[in-house]
Amino acid sequence: MYFFKTTEELKRHISQNKSSNQKIGFVPTMGALHQGHLSLIQQSQSVCSHTICSVFVNPTQFNESSDLQKYPRTPAKDIELLTLVGTDILFMPKLSEVYPNGMESSLAIDLKGLDSVMEGKFRPGHFEGVTQVVHRLLELTQPDVLFMGQKDFQQCVIVGRMIKALSLDLELVACPIVRNSSGLALSSRNMRLSVRGREQALILFASLQKAKVTLEKESVKSIVSSVKKQFLESNADLEYFEIVDGHTLEPIADEKDTDFVVACIAAYIEGVRLIDNMILKGGF
Ligand code: PAJ
Repeated sequence: MYFFKTTEELKRHISQNKSSNQKIGFVPTMGALHQGHLSLIQQSQSVCSHTICSVFVNPTQFNESSDLQKYPRTPAKDIELLTLVGTDILFMPKLSEVYPNGMESSLAIDLKGLDSVMEGKFRPGHFEGVTQVVHRLLELTQPDVLFMGQKDFQQCVIVGRMIKALSLDLELVACPIVRNSSGLALSSRNMRLSVRGREQALILFASLQKAKVTLEKESVKSIVSSVKKQFLESNADLEYFEIVDGHTLEPIADEKDTDFVVACIAAYIEGVRLIDNMILKGGF
């Protein structure tokens, strides 16, 4: 595995090795890698000749400095895992390599309101930071295919919108959510939960499953209110539970309103903010 820490080294390697018949896949991450991240690498390896992974905890997408400070960092283990799965290139830059001219963003994209709902509503500025860093990393890695996890559903939709708005010449592949055997979506943040917290966190998956099972039998309003009620009776703090149109991210009143229905949830367990989602109808 090639391991680059500077944009100079990365760009030199890419320009020397890029040839027209090679397909380059790119997987951006913030590290603290788990099987969810590795599944994206594996998906890339199944369709691309070379796979680049980046590990960079991007400060501009954190709206709370304490969240940034607490974000798990396991670089040695990340290098080990990426080597083990046969990643071709790892890019693990310092802040000054990604933002040589400061962290102010000059990128102006009309995200059509996709960034003002759900995560965008509760984490102001988050998606500006995400689009800023993904755009910068794409500029450096020049991939043909970008692999992202459906775990961050809104992020996938917004990056898709950015690609379209800027007419970027690349394909976006949204990969399925990897869960543990109980259904908990794998997340770097799970490391901060106790064993009991991990059990309590199953309420997120249970709520999404309930929505999936009852969508055709119950109204959207009644599903949402019964999930909210269940949270009131639990130790978890619900931030939002919404059933939305997967294209616009707007809440729907009736499942027949769209061909793409997604349930999205964010909740705090032991002070750790977790998100999850489930496609109830249709897909990307
Ligand atoms: P991070 O949270 O490290 O996630 C990196 C990628 O792994 C994202 O595309 C995410 O959706 C995917 N992923 C995480 N958990 C997953 C799971 N359980 N199953 C499948 N895929 C999973 O998302 C980010 O980093 C950042 O916002 C980033 C895009 C790197 C920009 O900084």
